[in-house]
Amino acid sequence: MSEDLFIPSGASRAEKYEAVIPQIESLVAGETDFIANVSNILAAIKEATRFHWVGCYFVKDDQLVLGPFQGSVACTRIAYGRGVCGTAWKENRVIVVPDVEAFPGHIACSSLSKSEMVIPLRDAEGRVWGVLDIDSSEPDDFVGTDEVHLSHIATLISQLGRP
Ligand code: SME
Repeated sequence: MSEDLFIPSGASRAEKYEAVIPQIESLVAGETDFIANVSNILAAIKEATRFHWVGCYFVKDDQLVLGPFQGSVACTRIAYGRGVCGTAWKENRVIVVPDVEAFPGHIACSSLSKSEMVIPLRDAEGRVWGVLDIDSSEPDDFVGTDEVHLSHIATLISQLGRP
């Protein structure tokens, strides 16, 4: 397996996702360790996009606990229903926040974050066992293609197993 990603320069967002997703699939195909695979997937998202923070939180008892991520240090625990991540868990839905300051209860881990998308990680019965959290330093930075492709990547993560 090559450890270099090929991401076409000058390509559109959609083309970058379309280039990187098959590479993500091959990256994880030969490895069974959950943390190793999630870590590489998050690094690939970070490399293929301009988002400044990409990470996972996993449900442990009544909280989300920080898992692998790419970016600056982040809060380690988020209560059910709190912030964007805790709300995505509680409501079991993708949440796109064009302006984090306008989201009630947003947890500001970094002053760089201006917009955010959180995607639930679900088991086969549809129960949430974690979230994929992506933060941008640009306001209103998430478009339909991000939701489609990042949701696809969240499904790939969901199929890897459990932390
Ligand atoms: N902003 C998140 C907290 C996690 S950091 O963005 C990494 C939230 O409100 O859920």
